[in-house]
Amino acid sequence: MASQVIAVEPFDLVVFGATGDLAIRKLIPALYHRDAAGQVPGSSRIIGVSRRPMEDAAFRKMAHDALGAHVGKDHHEEAAIARFLDRVSYASVDVVGKAGWKELAAMLAGSDRILVCYLSTGPDLFVPICDGLAACGLAERARVVVEKPLGKNLASAMAVNDAIGKHFPESHVYRIDHYLGKETVQNLMALRFANALFEPLWNAAHIDNVQITVAETLGVEGRAGYYDTAGALRDMVQNHILQLLCLVAMEPPPSLAADAVRDEKLKVLQALVPITPETVRENVVRAQYRAGASATGPVPGYLEELGNSDSRTETFVALRAEIANWRWAGVPFYLRTGKRLPSRVSEIVVSFRPIPHSVFDKSAGAVRNNRLVIRLQPDEGVKLWLMIKDPGPGGMRLRRVPLDMSFAETFAVRNADAYERLLMDVVRGNQTLFMRRDEVEAAWRWVEPILQYWGGSEELPRTYTAGTWGPTASVALIEKDRRSWHEEMA
Ligand code: BG6
Repeated sequence: MASQVIAVEPFDLVVFGATGDLAIRKLIPALYHRDAAGQVPGSSRIIGVSRRPMEDAAFRKMAHDALGAHVGKDHHEEAAIARFLDRVSYASVDVVGKAGWKELAAMLAGSDRILVCYLSTGPDLFVPICDGLAACGLAERARVVVEKPLGKNLASAMAVNDAIGKHFPESHVYRIDHYLGKETVQNLMALRFANALFEPLWNAAHIDNVQITVAETLGVEGRAGYYDTAGALRDMVQNHILQLLCLVAMEPPPSLAADAVRDEKLKVLQALVPITPETVRENVVRAQYRAGASATGPVPGYLEELGNSDSRTETFVALRAEIANWRWAGVPFYLRTGKRLPSRVSEIVVSFRPIPHSVFDKSAGAVRNNRLVIRLQPDEGVKLWLMIKDPGPGGMRLRRVPLDMSFAETFAVRNADAYERLLMDVVRGNQTLFMRRDEVEAAWRWVEPILQYWGGSEELPRTYTAGTWGPTASVALIEKDRRSWHEEMA
């Protein structure tokens, strides 16, 4: 089944930080896929920018290599690759030292095409790039895309937002959270708002708890320098996981218009019960991995990878959140994420309340809660765990089994990377899947007391062996509420 391609207007996309990891691994392959699918109009251009001097041909070679390394062999089409590389050119700009801006402006002059400037650089360059775009007259017509980290705390996030806002109206600012571009995250909205089945049950009267897990098997790889200044709470919870929580918990928006959705997400963030210095220890667990094993063999601990035995940066966090509103009061949201866990799995688990009264004999076995599991990756899909009668004669025996929809099995389409959708949304001018300034700041406001508490505490993070599900304290966090982390049941 071919996926539908919606035409976009011709555009010029300028990628700052074009030789960096994100551009090479994600942006260039995503743009190629859209081009190969016929979505990129003929005259559109992709202009890589970085400081180092380089000919167009050399950058094209880098782009070509990026496709070789990060696009599946099945999708290598000579004609499509040649057409894509034809769009690619390069400009050297020293965004701090000021050289090269004039030349970049000249390349983009005389066109009324959509102009997208993607800041795929460290956050320290956001301000000079925005200032530079303004000084050479490009800011007026550009849409600017920024990646996380947007700040290290509320104050620095506000400073970055102010600096961007000086030159760009909010309607031209696209703050990427790539989780919002994932197929199954979109499906969460379809599941909730395109079915009559769930929404009447989607509240504290019927839902017992919600769990969101984003587990990774990788360690910090080549990113230790960045990661050590961030940690799991800043890197994953403040953005990706809180965004998932918002989509699960928000009220139905009147439409999918950007502000309609973002208004509802913001209300959820504002309704999160604040975690205070007094409540951090009972609601939040942080930990760091020590040496252990991954699927490929023994792996070093975080401190060894980092080469610094003093770091207290957490590579795992589990926490219990609550939303103080009529829909969710009293329903715990258990969130956890970590590096070097046993498997790569991201999922949202909605556990319904027990039935009010059982008509079955003890011999039938326990009646277990229904669960809706939305699997983001891998094996995208939805499972609804229901109680049924075990087949065959011999009396009533109950068993929990899933109604199981695997997207790969149901739809024979390539699972597009989140960046493909998000990049085309920027060109279309659709901000629904991008974070608004007030959302980012509300998320920082909620995580900040946790960071402050850790910063001022003598207590070291707990540790866990690489290749395990985190420290026992994470299990205790949920078990003290007489619940447990969801595990796939046979
Ligand atoms: C990034 C984080 O935003 O998301 C990384 O900075 C993390 O640390 C990554 O590995 C996870 O993304 P995905 O799409 O692989 O789940």
